[in-house]
Amino acid sequence: MKICVIGSGYVGLITACGFAKLGHQVVCVDIDRKKVELINNAKPPIYEEGLDALLSEVVGKNLRATTDLASAISNSELVFITVGTPSKKDGSIDLSHVEKAFLEAVSAIPRDSNPFKIIAIKSTVVPGTTDSLAERAEEKTGKKAGTDYGLCMNPEFLREGKAIEDFFNPGRIVLGVPDGDKKTAKKMRELYCDFKCPIVTVNPTTAEMVKYASNSFLATKVSFSNEIGNLCKKLGIDTYKVMDAVGLDKRIGRQFLNSGIGYGGSCFPKDVKALIAAFKKNGIAPKILTAVVETNELQPSKLMELAKRKTNLKGKKVAVLGLAFKPESDDMREAPSVAIINSLLAEGAKVMVYDPQAMANAKKIFGERVEYASDLNDALSFSDVVFLLTEWAEFKDDAALKLYAGKMVFDGRKVLGKKSEGNYEGICW
Ligand SMILES: NC(=O)c1ccc[n+]([C@@H]2O[C@H](COP(=O)([O-])OP(=O)(O)OC[C@H]3O[C@@H](n4cnc5c(N)ncnc54)[C@H](O)[C@@H]3O)[C@@H](O)[C@H]2O)c1
Repeated sequence: MKICVIGSGYVGLITACGFAKLGHQVVCVDIDRKKVELINNAKPPIYEEGLDALLSEVVGKNLRATTDLASAISNSELVFITVGTPSKKDGSIDLSHVEKAFLEAVSAIPRDSNPFKIIAIKSTVVPGTTDSLAERAEEKTGKKAGTDYGLCMNPEFLREGKAIEDFFNPGRIVLGVPDGDKKTAKKMRELYCDFKCPIVTVNPTTAEMVKYASNSFLATKVSFSNEIGNLCKKLGIDTYKVMDAVGLDKRIGRQFLNSGIGYGGSCFPKDVKALIAAFKKNGIAPKILTAVVETNELQPSKLMELAKRKTNLKGKKVAVLGLAFKPESDDMREAPSVAIINSLLAEGAKVMVYDPQAMANAKKIFGERVEYASDLNDALSFSDVVFLLTEWAEFKDDAALKLYAGKMVFDGRKVLGKKSEGNYEGICW
C-alpha cells in the first residue's frame, strides 16, 4: 500500500519505518526541515533502540521524507496523522496541529479519488475529536467522510524504548471506523492482517476512549504503587517484595507496580490530565484520576525530603544519573528528573547530570544551570551525593557498582536493588 505519515516524531517515524519494513511504500511528512533532512540521510532524529538500523534499511528503498504534504498525499492511499497533541494549561489538549494536518489532508484529497483514500488519526485525541474534525472539514471543503475519503481513528499504544518491538508485536489493534463505512474498515483490517493480535473494530469515539482508559489505568497502577510504597517506607517494608507477590495474582499482573519517583513522558501526564478535563467538561468530578495526578506530582518531592533529612545539600556536589523519563529513551518531556534537579538547584547544590541518551534534551531544559558529565565515571568522580533517577542498565553493571563507594546515594528507581541502610536510601524501600 502507498502510505503517507504526517508528523515524524516518536510515533510517526516508528509507524513509517515499520510499514516500510513490511514492504509498503511510505512517505513521511514533517514541517521540521531538519528532521526531514535527517530522515532522508537515514539518521534518526530521536533515540529509539534499533531505529538506526531500521532507517538505514528502508530509506532510499521504500521510505522517504518531505515537507510537501499535498504531493505526498496525492500519491498515497492511506494517510496517518501522527502529529503532537500537547497539554494546554487547563489540562485539555491542544488540537491545533491535528486540526491543521487533518484539514490539509482533506483539502489535498480530490473528490471521488481513485483509489479511495483513507485518513487515519493515530495522535491521541479526546473522545469526539475525530468525528468533529470530519464535520468541520466538511463545512470548509464540502468533502464528506465515508464518501470522499475514509475516516479511521487508530490509537497508538507503543512504548518509547520498545517502540519497534511494539510496532511489530502489538497487544491489540483498535480501529475506530464510523458505523457503516465498510470500505474503510475492510482496507484497515487488510493493512493489519498479518499482525498476530486481536483487531478490535469500534466507532471512532470508542477507539479514542480505549486509548485514554488504557493510559489512565496504567498511570493509576503507578500512583497506587507509589502510595503503597510511601507507607512501606515508613513501616520498613520493601515495597518491591510486596508488589512481586501482589503481581502474581493474574487479575492484577506485575507490570506498572514499581514504586519510584512517578510516571513521566509525553503520554501518561498529558493523557490523564486531558481525561480529567473531559470529565469536567461533562459535569463529572473524577475522584480517582485527580488523586492519581496529585500522588504523581508529589512523588519527586518525597526523594528530596529523604535527602534533606539525611544531609544539607547546600554547596554539595550532586551527580544526577538518569534524566530521561524511562530507560532506552532520550525523552525528557514531563520527566520527574526535571522537578528534582530544580529542587536540588533551589537547595543550593552544585549539580552535574548524566544520561546515556538524553544529554541534548537536558541542555535545552537546563542550559548553563547544571554541569554535563561526559560519562558515568565523570559524574561520579565529581560528586559526594548521587541521585539515581532512571534505571539505565549501565548504572548497575559491575564496573559501575564499585564507583558508588563512599557516596551518599538516593535511589528513585531501585536501580541498585539494595536495602536502605547506611549511605544508601531508596524512595519506597
Ligand atoms: N510518544 C509516545 O510514546 C506516544 C505513544 C502513543 C501515542 N502518542 C501520541 O501520538 C502523538 C504524537 O506523539 P509523538 O511523541 O510522536 O510527538 P512528537 O512531538 O515527537 O512528534 C510530532 C511531530 O509532528 C510534526 N508536526 C507538527 N505539526 C505538523 C504538521 N502540520 N504537518 C507535519 N508535521 C507536523 C512535528 O514537527 C513533530 O516532528 C501524540 O498525540 C501522542 O500523544 C505518543
